[in-house]
Amino acid sequence: MNIAQIADQAIAQTYARYPLTLVRGRGCTLFDDQGNAYTDFIAGIAVCNLGHAHPKLVASLRDQAERLWHVSNLFYTQPQAELASWLTSRSFADRVFFANSGAEANEAAIKLARKYFKDRRQPGRFRVVSMNQSFHGRTMATLSATGQEKVRKGFDPVLEGFDFAEFNNIEDLACMVGADTCAVLMEPIQGEGGVICPDHAYLQQVRQLCDESGCLLIFDEVQTGIGRTGRLFAHEHAGVRPDIMTLAKALGNGLPIGAMLATESVAEAFGAGAHASTFGGSPIVTAVALAVLQTLEQDDILDQVNATGAYLLDRLAELQKRHTIIEAVRGKGLLIGVQLSKPGAPIVAACMQKGFLVNCVQDNVLRLAPPLIIRRQEIDGLMDCLDEVITEM
Ligand SMILES: Cc1ncc(COP(=O)(O)O)c(C=O)c1O
Repeated sequence: MNIAQIADQAIAQTYARYPLTLVRGRGCTLFDDQGNAYTDFIAGIAVCNLGHAHPKLVASLRDQAERLWHVSNLFYTQPQAELASWLTSRSFADRVFFANSGAEANEAAIKLARKYFKDRRQPGRFRVVSMNQSFHGRTMATLSATGQEKVRKGFDPVLEGFDFAEFNNIEDLACMVGADTCAVLMEPIQGEGGVICPDHAYLQQVRQLCDESGCLLIFDEVQTGIGRTGRLFAHEHAGVRPDIMTLAKALGNGLPIGAMLATESVAEAFGAGAHASTFGGSPIVTAVALAVLQTLEQDDILDQVNATGAYLLDRLAELQKRHTIIEAVRGKGLLIGVQLSKPGAPIVAACMQKGFLVNCVQDNVLRLAPPLIIRRQEIDGLMDCLDEVITEM
């Protein structure tokens, strides 16, 4: 039996997998077990922002592996302290809670928002308003907050206290936020929803609405954070500061880590014993995450994202002129959606045949989220490939 057959026999069938067994990666290239190379425009779904096997990250992982892997959060460790300090010095936040995934970071955010109002003797403020087409994770609370029927289907009853508003529509949100709302939870750019970028003015109005109604604003930057959109955090584009922000994905460049960041006055609601995670913030993942952030800064990766992101959008606009199947091209930095008039699966499969990995969300949006170190010639390669594939269709 080959690897795919063994996996199909023994692993829960929750993923529809591509017929590809990957064995190695370097920079923006992945290699399969047959020795074929693929240029990676998925990056583990916006995870491997510094590419595969980045030498600085490998060095930090090796170094930490020889010192200390794991101790309980009953003790202090240097990598965790330094990572939290780095994150608070570069963001609106004063405190960080470490988890292991995006869903866990959002779970912590929802719990914190509820507890914040319980502590303030406003127990009736427990509802969370999130957005249609949003994605926040697969735990019970985060799927209850996810505005996609296909994610919630089969798990009824979902948790009580979750409402939904139309994204990028302030009037609709104003109708949903009330005296019982503890938080508005939203992605600054919807990723799984099809790479939907709201207006900056809308995000500013959301902030104002939360202030006026007295509820908290939570930005889920699990997909958009860590430089993906050309700023360290996507909300910076609109100049809006949340009360709570969640991170995961690219923070560890592939090691499992999540983080929930909050202002001091909000974070106070999480006192000793209020929330916990055995693995959250372990030395080995926080050492690598710190190296990720330091590398992002030292190597001026954000400047690169802005330049190559603009180049990618230009090249896609050229492609759109030649192919009517491309209805729209949108995104920020290196999180780009290509809206198609037909299902994208055949294009994804054909690109894979030609050595390019792209993925498709919402059936008809190609999502391009390459490592942030992608080069122009690799983008040119994908453009030639898409041109050929679409023409052949
Ligand atoms: C915006 C957003 N939030 C949360 C999650 C869930 O993260 P995880 O799969 O690490 O639990 C995702 C995953 O795609 C995401 O895109």
